[in-house]
Amino acid sequence: MGEGSGYGKVILFNEHFVVHQVPSIVSAIDKKTTATVERSSGKGWTLEDNRPATPGYKEEKLAQQKDSVDRVLKAAGVNPAETPIKITLGGDLIVASGIGASAASCVAIAKALSDEFGLHFSDEMVNEIAYEGERAYHGTPSGVDNTAATYGGLLWFVRGKPIERIKIKRPVEVVMGNTGLVANTEAAVAGVRERKQKYPEKYEKIFKEAGELAYIAKKALLDYDLGAVGKLMDENHRQLQAIGVSCKELDFLVGLARSNGAYGAKMTGGGLGGNMVALTPGKDLQDRVARAIKKEGFEVLMTRIG
Ligand code: MEV
Repeated sequence: MGEGSGYGKVILFNEHFVVHQVPSIVSAIDKKTTATVERSSGKGWTLEDNRPATPGYKEEKLAQQKDSVDRVLKAAGVNPAETPIKITLGGDLIVASGIGASAASCVAIAKALSDEFGLHFSDEMVNEIAYEGERAYHGTPSGVDNTAATYGGLLWFVRGKPIERIKIKRPVEVVMGNTGLVANTEAAVAGVRERKQKYPEKYEKIFKEAGELAYIAKKALLDYDLGAVGKLMDENHRQLQAIGVSCKELDFLVGLARSNGAYGAKMTGGGLGGNMVALTPGKDLQDRVARAIKKEGFEVLMTRIG
């Protein structure tokens, strides 16, 4: 039996902008999706999906998941018509929108295939294969999610360029708040592209500002100036609102986190539902913000970046 795993992720700066070559900052989180691959006596491939999930997520993504598995198998050079296999997914990443669930599963499956078939895929190859799988969910992914799911850590990511690791003094606590809304990343990305074409001046200005913000945020992270990082997250949330990818539930959770002392908060990932992230250095603040979000009936994930 072959085994593999991929990390969940949280985008700290510039989801959506990153699709258009603007620099972004992403961190893997300490939750993973695992995959096993075993030979089966059936036909083609089958999948048992035991991942814990936000209600409705798996059902909503079923067609994309099927397409994604086909793409991963093709990119990995495994033909299940000749060698039938069973794939089983599990792990402690609660799958939801905005947390890199699709990328984590693509990476986990690519690694498990490599293990089962003795393919000796390097991380770079796993990342490329997972990118192919991500196309089924994102249309034109930037590659940020599969890169974080493959390599882990805190990364500076620019589409099509080598990644840079961002080393910070100590990991920082964050709280992710889940709106419970399952979102369609492909549609969200397509919406931004459309509006960017329709309102070029407005969008060019915001995109330029988001690009500048990423460099300032990288420096603030390296300086471990968490107050500044938080303010920049707030600003990035405003930019994401301006390009139309937030929603009232995300704005509500972002406001709630800030009013409970978070240094900053923003939506994370594809938006229009899914998750937000709040910067909450220290266990006490993290607990306080998580409690406030839970009290309103939303799921939270307490984790760390870097
Ligand atoms: C989704 O996690 C991140 C997006 O920027 C899409 C992508 O980068 O492929 C919205």
